[in-house]
Amino acid sequence: EKGTYPHYMLKEIDEQPAVMRKIIMEYQDANDNIKLDEDVRSAVQNSDRIYIIACGTSYHAGLVGKQMIEKMAKIPTEVHIASEFSYNMPLLSEKPLFIFISQSGETADSRAVLVHIKKLGHRSLTITNVAGSTLSREADHTLLLHAGPEIAVASTKAYTAQIAVLALLAVDTAKVKGIKLDFNPIQELGIVANAMEALVDQKDIIEKIARDYLSVTRSCFFIGRGIDYYVCQEAALKLKEISYIQAEGFAGGELKHGTIALIEEGTPVIAIATQAHVNGSIRSNVKETVARGAHACIVSMESTSETGDQIVLPEVHEYLTPLVSVVPMQLLAYYAALHRDCDVDKPRNLAKSVTVE
Ligand code: F6R
Repeated sequence: EKGTYPHYMLKEIDEQPAVMRKIIMEYQDANDNIKLDEDVRSAVQNSDRIYIIACGTSYHAGLVGKQMIEKMAKIPTEVHIASEFSYNMPLLSEKPLFIFISQSGETADSRAVLVHIKKLGHRSLTITNVAGSTLSREADHTLLLHAGPEIAVASTKAYTAQIAVLALLAVDTAKVKGIKLDFNPIQELGIVANAMEALVDQKDIIEKIARDYLSVTRSCFFIGRGIDYYVCQEAALKLKEISYIQAEGFAGGELKHGTIALIEEGTPVIAIATQAHVNGSIRSNVKETVARGAHACIVSMESTSETGDQIVLPEVHEYLTPLVSVVPMQLLAYYAALHRDCDVDKPRNLAKSVTVE
């Protein structure tokens, strides 16, 4: 039930801090260690390469997951769009583990890959919000998101739950492998929950930016580098699907290789800059677009005296910044859709779960 909320999407955005806390509870044992099935552990430990398969928003969560698994657990990881993988399978390693990420657990494109790789005799793990869903029943192992039902077509709390569960999996794998990490995931996810809470309490700031930047525009660019680029892709998808604004998530350094030709007077450019080692370069990319007339806003953890709009995020661990940077992006899409009189919870041409290939 959406209670006093005008839309499920807004309710689900607001639920994200509680979902983080629920995930901590579900995946924490009495000694504050991560609680995982031994079978899941050994499936991950025994693999020489992980293949993440997903669609849409779940694919975007997979991109963030890859980064965490490679950085913390040191297992090479590839992320594939399910419908592409089906028709264009890469060379597989000797001991692959397939991880299917799916909110609904019913996505036909992902299921087609699962059916195929099972025939080849490979192991599989599904990360899903729905216990008993097709992908959960048919895979060898399941990890649940514990996000509660997601009703709005645009996925929000499932994305952040997927990233949180992938973080726990990455840390647990590192621990079992004896890799020392200076990262207590339970504590860090707690910090994330508080940061999300602070952000959902700043809706007026985001609503104003949505009104100024997005109420009449035809297009919008989200730019970032590294994991910020992955969040940009998710931000663009959110905006496209509910406000029908043509949006693109773009790698900051790649703009000058062609796409910057599209920047004109007033084009909205939203930059995400949460990673210390690329902040300088993304800020120069923003300047390049502003010099060509862009209307630019920077989303980052530092408040600077530079002119232009900014959204300041609370500090969280550098691996987990997508969990907070995505929140204002979800709200931007939400308010843009409202200002443009779109049906937020039921956008045109889309269904909540896509059960055809
Ligand atoms: C976007 C969205 C879709 C889904 C995609 C995969 O907001 O909801 O892109 O993420 O259809 O769905 P699941 O995760 O159920 O496999």
